[in-house]
Amino acid sequence: MTSMLKSRMVVDKSFRIAEVDSRVYGSFIEHLGRAVYGGIYEPSHPTADADGFRGDVKELLKQLNVPIIRYPGGNFVSGYNWEDGVGPVDQRPKRLDLAWRTVEPNEVGTNEFIKWASGIGSEVMMAVNLGTRGIDAARNLLEYCNHPGGTYWSDLRSKHGVKEPHRIKTWCLGNEMDGPWQIGHKTAEEYGRLALETAKVMRQVDPSIELVSCGSSHTAMPTFPQWEAETLDHTYEAVDYISLHQYYGNRDNDTANYLARSMDMDHFIHTVTSTCDYIKAKKRSKKTMMLSFDEWNVWYHSNDADTKLDPWTIAPPQLEDVYNFEDALLVGSMLLTMIRHADRVKMACLAQLVNVIAPIMTENGGRAWKQTIFYPYLHASQYGRGVSLMPVVDSPVYDAQDYTDVPYLDSAVVYNEESEELTIFALNRHLEEGMELECDVRSFEGYKVTQHLVLEHEDLKAVNTAAEEKVKPHAQGDAICQDGKVTAHLSKASWNVIRLSK
Ligand code: AHR
Repeated sequence: MTSMLKSRMVVDKSFRIAEVDSRVYGSFIEHLGRAVYGGIYEPSHPTADADGFRGDVKELLKQLNVPIIRYPGGNFVSGYNWEDGVGPVDQRPKRLDLAWRTVEPNEVGTNEFIKWASGIGSEVMMAVNLGTRGIDAARNLLEYCNHPGGTYWSDLRSKHGVKEPHRIKTWCLGNEMDGPWQIGHKTAEEYGRLALETAKVMRQVDPSIELVSCGSSHTAMPTFPQWEAETLDHTYEAVDYISLHQYYGNRDNDTANYLARSMDMDHFIHTVTSTCDYIKAKKRSKKTMMLSFDEWNVWYHSNDADTKLDPWTIAPPQLEDVYNFEDALLVGSMLLTMIRHADRVKMACLAQLVNVIAPIMTENGGRAWKQTIFYPYLHASQYGRGVSLMPVVDSPVYDAQDYTDVPYLDSAVVYNEESEELTIFALNRHLEEGMELECDVRSFEGYKVTQHLVLEHEDLKAVNTAAEEKVKPHAQGDAICQDGKVTAHLSKASWNVIRLSK
């Protein structure tokens, strides 16, 4: 195959950005659509365990090795009474969920979810309701979850069959409180004050917790980034992270522009980082605020279908985006963007995990399968743990509708010192041409290519279904390493994982 494009990279052991916090490969389960009911939980499913959770879904999730899962929302949390989801299941109320216009049966709640998550090796990132509730409900939930015993709420947990405290470390102070759609939406001043006071009380209950303050719901919010500046002015010393949320879509079917959207994500991270550092300077603080990108993904395919669903049903098929190949490429680029920001982005959640804008889909009572986006997420989670190294890149660029100088080559590099493995993630954004990549890895003496995984497809719109997995990786990439130089052909529109070890 002939190719015109050439890109060069230099990767050096000493170009360290930071250790990648494995929690950037986190995800999210909200009480929304079929994420919980029919997704992770379906007592009548042939693979269900004794607690009613689907075994086939757990098997797929174990492959992904998800370190942390945000729960229970999302918009849902801003109208949620956590007390409805604990205690004897047959006594739990059914409630209207106003966020998604459904009926919540409360069959799964705090204890069931935490037990399920720990069964697949995941921590829980718990969100508290700062929409309809506030300080009191938040401190009670924390006491219920984390206090060892001898108090009303911790003893209630024991009575509910959970003797040992859950020791949930990470807590979100509400969800998207900047958004007018949010139940209990607040101004920056209102939220900043409430988040600060909630944080103070929660830390009194359990000083070991980490707290996430709500940032903007996306970059196009009219209040971005003033929201960050104003809320952090209140919460800066009381919280550990500020959240970022962002979803993209290819609504105009302009794929070159769509694949450049990760540049917006990059800009978002830069802007939030600068805003945090401005507040740090203003407060003469010694503390550096970290970022939790706790909702990110592609979300647009299901928008029309969702407007046609009847309200007030249990677990309707909401937000069921069927992802195509180009979506997998953008998800790959978004992962690379976060790896390159490993010094500040310490947690992130692919939103979401099962059925609802998710890498895994299920049929009620039937099969479970991998969507296209499963693969870049899997590869990053498998091979993206270690030190993020800054690749120095020389790539041809293009101009798109909303972006100029978009590099055709997108990349990130992770060096796992323990296993002496180096992984070069390389994405070719060119839709018609392959690219010859040359990467100087001289500081990795004696390293050889052990695998070159490739995700590619002739049809950018190809999708996976229960019956057929059209988009899946192969290991036929041609990367080799000779004389301290990796050379590889990157097919047009392709995601590449080049693995080297000693
Ligand atoms: O993930 C779907 C929704 O997107 C979440 O509930 C909300 O936080 C965001 O707007």
